[in-house]
Amino acid sequence: MKSLFAFAAATILLAACQTTPPEPLRATAQLQPTKGNKTFGEATFEQVGDKVRVVVFVQGLKPGQEHGLHIHEVGDCSSGDGMSTKGHFNPFGKPHGPQGSAERHAGDLPALKANKAGRANVQIDLDIITLTPGPASIIGRGLIAHADPDDYKTQPTGNAGARIACGVIQPG
Ligand code: CU
Ligand code: ZN
Repeated sequence: MKSLFAFAAATILLAACQTTPPEPLRATAQLQPTKGNKTFGEATFEQVGDKVRVVVFVQGLKPGQEHGLHIHEVGDCSSGDGMSTKGHFNPFGKPHGPQGSAERHAGDLPALKANKAGRANVQIDLDIITLTPGPASIIGRGLIAHADPDDYKTQPTGNAGARIACGVIQPG
């Protein structure tokens, strides 16, 4: 009898959980080459404590060169040149800037530093972005790898040049 009650309670609890979708605590983006390019990669975004752990792997970069990397405002790669992702994700109205500065776009990420094989990775924990709903949520936004280094000064782009790979940040 007792176990039957527990079973019923568990069933009801399970049903209640299923009616509200779980919060997206993990997201991914597949970076695909834009027109005329061969750069591709993958990014994962995972909630770790009160921060979001960003892990990005990219291949097909110019060997030995730095490449700007940003979260852009719109998760739309349909223009083929990455321009449909619009500008850097900037929910707090800040200037473009380097890591460690409070004066930067939420979407400003550390540069990709390509090795001799044209591969690069970035890992960083950020509290300026979220996976949960809110102004700083990166779900549904764009991820862009650039042809050139980010100078972290030129407004509002960092003068990082063409957009060579584009992805959409999606839950899961
Ligand atoms: Cu960018
Ligand atoms: Zn920026």
